[in-house]
Parts: sequence; C-alpha cells; structure tokens
Amino acid sequence: MYVITGASGRTGRAAASHLLEHGYHVRAVGRDPRNLARLADDGAETHQADQSDPTAMATALRGADAAYLVIQPNYIPDHPDFAAFQDQAAAALTDAVTRTGVPRVVALSSWGAQHPSGTGPVAGLHRFENRLSTAPGADITWLRAGYYMENLFDHLDSVRTHRRIIAPFDPDVPLPLVTTTDVGIAAAEELARPQTGTRIRELQGERDVTMHEVAQAITTAIGAPVTYERRTVKAFHEQLREAGVSDNVAAMMTEVPRAVNTGHLRMTQPRTPETTTPTSLESFIRTEFVPALNAS
Ligand SMILES: NC(=O)c1ccc[n+]([C@@H]2O[C@H](COP(=O)([O-])OP(=O)(O)OC[C@H]3O[C@@H](n4cnc5c(N)ncnc54)[C@H](OP(=O)(O)O)[C@@H]3O)[C@@H](O)[C@H]2O)c1
Repeated sequence: MYVITGASGRTGRAAASHLLEHGYHVRAVGRDPRNLARLADDGAETHQADQSDPTAMATALRGADAAYLVIQPNYIPDHPDFAAFQDQAAAALTDAVTRTGVPRVVALSSWGAQHPSGTGPVAGLHRFENRLSTAPGADITWLRAGYYMENLFDHLDSVRTHRRIIAPFDPDVPLPLVTTTDVGIAAAEELARPQTGTRIRELQGERDVTMHEVAQAITTAIGAPVTYERRTVKAFHEQLREAGVSDNVAAMMTEVPRAVNTGHLRMTQPRTPETTTPTSLESFIRTEFVPALNAS
C-alpha cells in the first residue's frame, strides 16, 4: 500500500492517479476529505490528516510499503514566517516516518536544494532533506523538481490584456521547466520500483527553455505576438507587496530570480533519460495554458 501525502495538491494527485490506474492500493492523505473525493471515486482509500501534526501523520503512514512526502502548499502569500511553516511540516513528517518505520520514502524537493540559503523557499527543502535523512532505516529517493510550468499561469492576465509576460528572470537564462503532472508520475514510478539506499533524482523537464522561448511558444499557439519583458527584482518585490504578499514571503520570493539569474539556483545532474521528463513547453502551452487563457 502506498501513502500519498499532499494528495489534493498537484503532484500528489498526479502520483495517486497514476498508481490507481496501474492497480495499486493507494491511501490518499489531505486535510479536507472533500478535496480527495475524486480520488476516492477512483478507488483510493482517503485519510484526513494535517502535515504539521506528527501524530496524525504517523496514523496516516502506518502500514505503508512506501510513502510520497510533500511539504505543501507551494507558498502561503500572507504568511508571517513561511520558513517556520516549512520546518514544522518537515519535523512532523520526519517524526511520523521515524515512529512508523516506513521502509521507503519518495520525497519532493527542488532544484537548488543543494544550497542552504539564497534560494527562497527552496532553502526550506534543503532543511527538509537534512531533517528527513535523520529518520533511521528509511530508504529515501529525493525528487528535485525544476521550475513548474504551472508558474506560467501567473502571467495569464498580462498575456490576455497586454500580450506580454513580465517577470524578473534574465530572458536568456535557461530554465528547467517541468509540469507537476510529470513530477507526480515520476513519484508514482519511484514508489512502485524496488529501491534501497538514498538517492537524488533531478526532474529537469523535456529541455531547458528561456523566457524568450516561452513568449515565442505562446505566440505560436495563439497566433498573436507575445513579448517578454524583464522587470527588476526590486519592482517584482514592490508588485508582490502591493498584491498583499507579506514582507516575509515577498523577501523569500525575490531570492528566487536573483538565484536563477546568477546561476546559484541550477541543476547539478547531467541531462539523461532519468532526469528528462516527457511534457514539452509547447505541449503544456497548447493543452493547459491556452485553454486557461480562453477560459476567463
Ligand atoms: N513552484 C515550483 O516551481 C516548485 C519547484 C520545485 C518544487 N516545488 C515544491 O513543490 C511543493 C508543492 O507541491 P505541489 O505543487 O504538489 O503542492 P500544491 O499543489 O501547492 O499543494 C496544494 C495543497 O496544499 C494544501 N494547502 C493549501 N493551503 C494550505 C495551508 N495553509 N496549510 C497546509 N496545507 C495547505 C491543500 O490541500 P488540503 O487542503 O486538501 O490539505 C492543497 O490541495 C512545495 O514543497 C514546493 O516548494 C515547487
């Protein structure tokens, strides 16, 4: 039996669905059973637990052959101390693995998690990696995912209204853009595969792409010119604050473009069949971005 935490989230839902489609017994874990109803319809056992509660998480993990662990959500815009939130979840998940003796874990981390600092929310995943490695006896596969293609949804309004993507990334810096579905499927495949020891697997997307190429892909898909405009990191910070993002989270989020533009945030493994995921930027734009653009 495989336990999927974060099962109502993007990677967790994809992992659970993939395992169910292949006939495995899945326990889908989340805070709200209503968000797990579709997985229940598809045959999952559902279990209500909050990732920050070690006792509830230990109950959720009991009896698992292997578990997928995710610190979620991606970030909480108005949180006063998001690093503390991440650390509390990491501590509870580690405690639950230790108490239950789950033999195998696949856990979600990020590109850049090799660094203790200077990477925004990714530094919390560095600390998660260190903390979980103290759980005795668990074989852990770390999935260090690249930059989510779904982050491009932040630009829907701007593309719709101004035919522009405005972001603080250097337009020519190559980004490993990966879909959350591909991350979830990789997690499911890792869970179902025999594995001993601790391992890191980067998920780098189908290929590296620049923000110029992103604008070009959208241009081609909608048949109208879309341009990329680089904004300063300072202007990005001001935009976040104006949108009601807390000082703490805004400071954290501005570390990301700085780290990307300087190469501090980067992949470390070679591009191989194992680190490459199937969905191309063009496919994501066609099947997910353009429908979302037309929907609202
Ligand atoms: N963004 C990126 O480019 C990137 C790249 C690499 C790695 N990552 C990592 O990916 C992870 C996120 O994975 P994901 O995308 O699968 O998750 P996600 O989709 O962001 O998770 C969404 C789920 O989080 C839960 N949630 C919402 N608000 C919450 C709150 N205040 N407290 C606790 N839970 C809350 C909800 O579940 P319920 O309410 O149903 O419990 C919701 O379904 C993060 O650790 C992030 O650092 C992100």
